Parts: sequence; structure tokens; C-alpha cells
Amino acid sequence: MGALGAVGAVGAVSGESAGNAGNPGSARTLMRTTHRLLLEDAREMPGVEAESIDCVITSPPYPMIEMWDGVFSAMSPEIGLRLERGEAWQAFELMHRELDRVWAQCSRVLRPGGFACINVGDATRTLDGEFRLYPNHARIVEAMLRIGLTPLPDILWRKPTNAPNKFLGSGMLPAGAYVTYEHEYILIFRKGPKRAFATDDGRELRMRSAFFWEERNAWFSDVWMDLRGASQELGDPAARERSAAFPFEVPYRLVQMLTLQGDAVLDPFLGTGTTSAAAAASARSSVGLDMDPALLAAAERALLFAPALARRRVEERLEAHRRFVEEREAAGKPLKHRNRPYGFPVVTGQEVDLELLVPSAMRRTGEGRFEAEHRAATPSDGDRSKQAELPF
Ligand SMILES: C[S@@+](CC[C@H](N)C(=O)[O-])C[C@H]1O[C@@H](n2cnc3c(N)ncnc32)[C@H](O)[C@@H]1O
Repeated sequence: MGALGAVGAVGAVSGESAGNAGNPGSARTLMRTTHRLLLEDAREMPGVEAESIDCVITSPPYPMIEMWDGVFSAMSPEIGLRLERGEAWQAFELMHRELDRVWAQCSRVLRPGGFACINVGDATRTLDGEFRLYPNHARIVEAMLRIGLTPLPDILWRKPTNAPNKFLGSGMLPAGAYVTYEHEYILIFRKGPKRAFATDDGRELRMRSAFFWEERNAWFSDVWMDLRGASQELGDPAARERSAAFPFEVPYRLVQMLTLQGDAVLDPFLGTGTTSAAAAASARSSVGLDMDPALLAAAERALLFAPALARRRVEERLEAHRRFVEEREAAGKPLKHRNRPYGFPVVTGQEVDLELLVPSAMRRTGEGRFEAEHRAATPSDGDRSKQAELPF
């Protein structure tokens, strides 16, 4: 479980789960989490303690993508110089050397058994008259291997574009056209060996943090298709455009897949705060860093929006599970197990204690500091009538 100050389960987790049986939605606080927004350089990360983080989820500025040239040149003026001179490979390498410093910090702050998930796209660009691919994902894998993190199977996130001019080069004539890039990577690494769950409390929390069998089948697939969806509207659209924000669903899934309720999630390149919102919506604590104060203000709004977003996403999940159960029963394949908190059928014994939490309160407790309380979700949490009150 996360150990960021006051983070953690409230009372004995096992007692809470058992006491709540058959009564999801009791307003009782089952978890408290903390959330910090830091105006800090991720290459230094002075505000984050060693081995205090269970999972890093982030998307850096992409080397050799023009929109980030200024950010990289500000980190190292030599990068700007190399770009001006058209020295493409030198610029690419120098940009990655700045990111390498952030990956080293991530490794420092991760607990043993913790994960680092990095969403990155390769870049295509014409520089000095030559069109080339800049393999960002390969360079990051190499950097992570060098600092001793273990690479795990990654996810190819397919992002189709409808742009009419998406095919580059010589059209229907051979030998002069280029394949169109419509995917990014979600690279996954672990620090050291697998996490152990040595105590009863730890094992019970792990059971409560389970996801549905049918979610496992989709989320642990190595190709994620178009993820734009209901929650894409999180936050201010202009800020999201400026920071190249990823959809809420990206960090939300990774949080469910790789962490337990109460764990601590870090995004060293927070932008508009999508990762912190996903962590808060999932009863995980969060720390987010950015160097742009305007984006941190957007991140604050995203955190305050997390309770509404959580209710909506949890309702979608419960509704999707209800439909799944109906289809299985209609197909003559009833499910063998029963989930204790909600009373509905589930496929496996690993899902019997699964309980989704939503924030019941999110409070600002100081400059860049927030606390949330979390209660068990009820099937009415996504009630459409409440959505009119959402701030975005
Ligand atoms: C690709 S964006 C992240 C977008 C984010 N995932 C979201 O959903 O909004 C990269 C972010 O890194 C920030 N950044 C760039 N260099 C940084 C540094 N050295 N330390 C901290 N943040 C940095 C930028 O301001 C930008 O917001």
C-alpha cells in the first residue's frame, strides 16, 4: 500500500470489506488518499521521496516532435543549436539525455516491485532535407535497461487519423511513399522482482482492488484501439491541446491493472492532470510534477473534477458488467461465482471481493495539496441527472 504520509486504508481493510457485504454504497469512508501538485523540474524531482511511489504513469514531451522543440531547447540550449544546424541525430540523442535524467529519478522514487508506464510515440520529420523516423520508444527502452528496470510486454495504442492527406510521399507510385504512423506505445517496466503480498491486509486489499474478468481480457490485450470516449472532455480543451493530453482512459486502465487501492501514482510530466485525476478517481494517491504553472492550474481543476468523473466511469463499468452477465446467461453459460459487496455473478473467485470506490469528498488542504475520502460505489453513482452539475 502507498505510504505517502496519511495515505492508506481506514481501519482494518478486512473488517471494512466484510462489514460492507451486501451493502455497497454505504457512505462510510473506506480509504483516504492525498494528492500533490508540484511546480518542479522532473529531472531533479526534489519533492518526491525515494521508494515512495508504486507506479509511474506518464507521457513525456516527445523528442523530435516540433511542438516540443522549445521545451527541449530550454532544457539544453545545445539542442536548439543542433536543430538549427539540421544535426538531427545529435538533437535526438541530446533530447533523450534530458529524459534519461527523469527516468533515473523515476527509478529512485519507485518502490521495489513498482511499475513505470511511459506513453510515447516515435517521430517522423523532415530535417536537413531528409525525411526520417526517430525511434523514441526504442531509445527509452534502451535507457530503462541501462538503469536496471525490467521491460515487460508493452501496449500498442492505435490512434487512427481521418486526415485526408495522411499518406505521405509518392501516392500510388512505388518506392517513394512512407507508411503512415497511427500508433503510439505504452511501455511498461518494473523495478526489481514481482511485488509480494505478505500480510493478510495486503492480500485482502489486493482482492478488493480486483477488476472484472471481461475487463482483464480487454485491458491486457497488447493492442488498444481508439480510446477517445465519454471522459475525453476532462478539463480545459485548449490546455489539453497545448499539453498533448492523453485520454483519461489511458491512466485509468493502467491504475486498475497495476496498482492497489491506496497506492501512490506519480506523473513527472503531469500536464493537465489526467493521471492525478485517474488516480483520485480510483482511490489511489498521486503526485504530479510540471514546469508550466498554467498547466498545474488545469491539473488542480482536473483533480476537483475527479469525484464526478469517478462516478461516471464506475457506473459505466458496473453497467458493462451487468450487460456481460445478461449475455452470458442468455447464451446458457451462467457465471459460477458471486461478488459479495454487490451480489452480482462474476466469472472467477478472484472477483468475489471486488469493490469499486469513488471519492466522496475532495478537499484542497494547501498550496498544491489535496485530500480525498473514498466510499464504496453504488450502481446509481453515474446517474445522468447529476452530470448536468459537472464543471466542464
Ligand atoms: C506530453 S505533456 C503531458 C500531458 C499529460 N499526460 C496530460 O494528460 O495533460 C508533457 C508535459 O511535460 C511538461 N514538462 C516538460 N519538461 C518538464 C520538466 N523538465 N519537468 C516537469 N515537467 C516538464 C510540459 O509542460 C508538459 O505539460
